[in-house]
Amino acid sequence: MKVLVTGGAGFIGSNFVRRTLETRPGAEVTVLDAMTYAGSAGSLDGVLDRVRLVEGDVADAAVVEPLVADADVVVHFAAESHNDNSLADPSPFVRTNLVGTFTLLEAARRHDVRYHHISTDEVYGDLELDDPKRFTEDTPYAPSSPYSASKAGSDHLVRAWVRSFGLRATLSNCSNNYGPRQHVEKFIPRQVTNVLVGERPKLYGDGLNVRDWIHVDDHNDAVWTVLDHGRIGETYLVGADGEMSNRDVIALVLELMGEDPDAYDHVTDRAGHDRRYAIEAGKLRQELGWCPRYETFREGLAATIDWYRTHEDWWRPAKEATEAKYALTQQVLA
Ligand code: NAD
Ligand code: DAU
Repeated sequence: MKVLVTGGAGFIGSNFVRRTLETRPGAEVTVLDAMTYAGSAGSLDGVLDRVRLVEGDVADAAVVEPLVADADVVVHFAAESHNDNSLADPSPFVRTNLVGTFTLLEAARRHDVRYHHISTDEVYGDLELDDPKRFTEDTPYAPSSPYSASKAGSDHLVRAWVRSFGLRATLSNCSNNYGPRQHVEKFIPRQVTNVLVGERPKLYGDGLNVRDWIHVDDHNDAVWTVLDHGRIGETYLVGADGEMSNRDVIALVLELMGEDPDAYDHVTDRAGHDRRYAIEAGKLRQELGWCPRYETFREGLAATIDWYRTHEDWWRPAKEATEAKYALTQQVLA
């Protein structure tokens, strides 16, 4: 099977490529990645000789067309993915997440290629901390940030291409991923690498915001489950019952790294900061038989911390510039 993985040099995409090569020996993998600040060949270290890596933009039809024509399946991870960046400058989010998805959909339609769309729980907006409900496939769309609005728009494009043109597509909307090779701008890698360089972790606002954590390998196994068994036109929510407040995550990172669990700073909150995400993944579990392999967040987090400890060469080059960017908008609160 020829698999075209867009964004395959980023966090989730590179782990997807590795997992695919591990579990599907017959797969021929092509990665299409623009190599933005978030993508690097280093994320594919050790597997580059088994992958065709094409540097290019998903919004460039001339690049996309022949690659899609040659594929049996397209798995579309490529995106601008960070909420804070979308607040500073939304324009690349509109281009990559909307125009990029449109460009791939048109190519997949022309060549009748199976398409899977990687999306996020953020399209559903947020929940109150004490709301007994969680997101399901029937929750109405209500995105908050330019990032989540651009992802919501891309989901709608996919759904329209299924209904209007009969595109053979599925969608999955996943909660917060953690694991190796996640950029140091994101919450967990930022705190882990702060501790490693002797800085204090940084918590936005009161830190009571809740995210629903899932290990990246569990997410990627869910993607293959949907590719293998999902029904065309359907959306599947992916989550591993991993709700935890940001404050508790920081305390756990500090504890696992042998530090005082209170040794962090409160910093300026994110504008429009979503309060809580929570996924009810019953459809994926019951209809398709998926379940997560990582039994506890603590176990997965400890393994992730170890990865950052032993791969400083991977994260160090981005650390200083990332913190310099944060320093423009974030102050430590008294
Ligand atoms: P990431 O930022 O780590 O990686 C994105 C990759 O896309 C990078 O390699 C980047 O170079 C590439 N890219 C960006 N613009 C491109 C363009 N125009 N053309 C080609 N490649 C381009 O992101 P991630 O965290 O791995 O997220 C991957 C996907 O999963 C995204 O669609 C995101 O919305 C979705 N998602 C992420 C999470 C999460 O917790 N990280 C959760 C649910 C869904
Ligand atoms: O829910 C899925 C989404 O999860 C994905 O669609 C996004 O691509 C991914 O980036 C992630 O979005 P979040 O905004 O939830 O992730 P982030 O890592 O930026 O932040 C997680 C939480 O931690 C959030 O409540 C903000 C907070 N935070 C973040 C940073 C970077 C802090 O308290 N301190 C920080 O330094």
